[in-house]
Amino acid sequence: MTSPVRLALLGCGTVGSDVVRLLHEQSADLAARIGAPLEIAGIAVRRLGRDRGDLPVDPGLFTTDALGLIKRDDVDVVVEVVGGIEPARGWLVEALRAGKSVVTANKALLAEDGATLHDAAAEGGADLYYEASVAGAIPLLRPLRESLHGDRINRVTGIVNGTTNFILSAMDATGAGFAEALEEATELGYAEADPTADVEGFDAAAKAAILASLAFHTRVSAADVHREGITEVTSADVASAKSMGCTIKLLCIAARGTDATGRETVSVRVHPAMIPLTHPLASVGDAFNAVFVEAEAAGQLMFYGRGAGGAPTASAVLGDVVAVARNRLAGVHAASESAYADLPVRPMGEALTRYHISLDVTDRPGVLAAVAGVFARHDVSIATVRQGPAGGGAAGRGDDADLVIVTHVAPDAALAATVGELRGLDIVRSVASVLRVEGGL
Ligand code: NDP
Ligand code: HSE
Repeated sequence: MTSPVRLALLGCGTVGSDVVRLLHEQSADLAARIGAPLEIAGIAVRRLGRDRGDLPVDPGLFTTDALGLIKRDDVDVVVEVVGGIEPARGWLVEALRAGKSVVTANKALLAEDGATLHDAAAEGGADLYYEASVAGAIPLLRPLRESLHGDRINRVTGIVNGTTNFILSAMDATGAGFAEALEEATELGYAEADPTADVEGFDAAAKAAILASLAFHTRVSAADVHREGITEVTSADVASAKSMGCTIKLLCIAARGTDATGRETVSVRVHPAMIPLTHPLASVGDAFNAVFVEAEAAGQLMFYGRGAGGAPTASAVLGDVVAVARNRLAGVHAASESAYADLPVRPMGEALTRYHISLDVTDRPGVLAAVAGVFARHDVSIATVRQGPAGGGAAGRGDDADLVIVTHVAPDAALAATVGELRGLDIVRSVASVLRVEGGL
């Protein structure tokens, strides 16, 4: 057997400690698959004194000097499971420029400044692998960057945040409000003490940027992604969706399109949306993730599994470690970043979407015509209208009526302007709910 491939592990928290466990438990199999044993050269952490339970590793390997560890001559591969922008960016650039391959789960860094990492990898002739950064255990990035490279991907639609999927699933199942469902997610350990990155959609937006970059051979950063979280989703929205045979999911959507001049573009967005119960993503419950890919020749593909958690994420990290270790032994590198298409990213206002709008209106002659006139003025076509007494039931609330309108596809800016004008009409008492609709109704 050849000499070991030596790893610098940066971070030993939720993911890092499971990387250590799996490396220990599977050492013989991993060595056989790679053709050389894997050895941990050192583990960089923030707190040397932290209790790490019965982690099967020599305590003498821990250090707080991550950079010193990376620079050591006996380190071949750097595995980063710390997270955040700095100091992780500086560490990874240092490693890659020195020709040391990097495996990282750091979606925030890849989405903020993936270009710097890819450039450093090209400069140093090193591999940069990041399967764990999107949808945890689900093999997704390798299929996008390898298996589907002979095809043309038109659209990627995914549920890529487990915490928000758990919350929305709980709201749908029990009728709970957002705050109550978030509390449950926190108690069960899905949501972090500060759940902002999840519930405000930042985590999903970072993943959307990574997916769009790979799918469309274009550099897309988090700043290019339109982002809306789930904090405004109410139990009334969930009930409204149910009454239409739908459920609400936080979707990441990356799609090809063309602008007014016929130039090819991409749009990338994260927002809650109503999808029909017949849509493949509707049945993805609890904290699971799933990504639906539509490609020209392959057709529709669905990837499903656990998107978070120590062991599932460590599984993806180790898959990458095996790949870069094999490359190293063979003296080869994976293909570098593919960003040749360099497609412009369209602003959200130009993205083509559909709205489901629920209005509380005065119930008198001419109201429907006035409402329809607003849609017409913004060139938005109505697909369906349903009217009933306000508050539902046979009796309703006297002079009011509920009006539920679903539009055809239109530029998002036109739809938003329509809702804005509706809010200003005397006959509209309130706009009870506005949700985008995906997947046909
Ligand atoms: P944790 O917070 O559990 O662990 C972070 C680790 O990094 C800890 O070991 C911590 O040290 C160490 N660390 C923090 N700052 C420094 C520093 N300045 N120098 C050295 N070490 C430092 O994070 P997770 O394991 O949950 O996440 C790690 C990465 O994986 C992130 O990028 C995350 O986005 C990504 N990821 C996580 C998933 C999950 O389910 N948790 C799923 C998919 C991706 P110490 O132990 O001393 O505190
Ligand atoms: N907070 C993330 C989630 C972890 O809930 O999906 C996985 O990236």
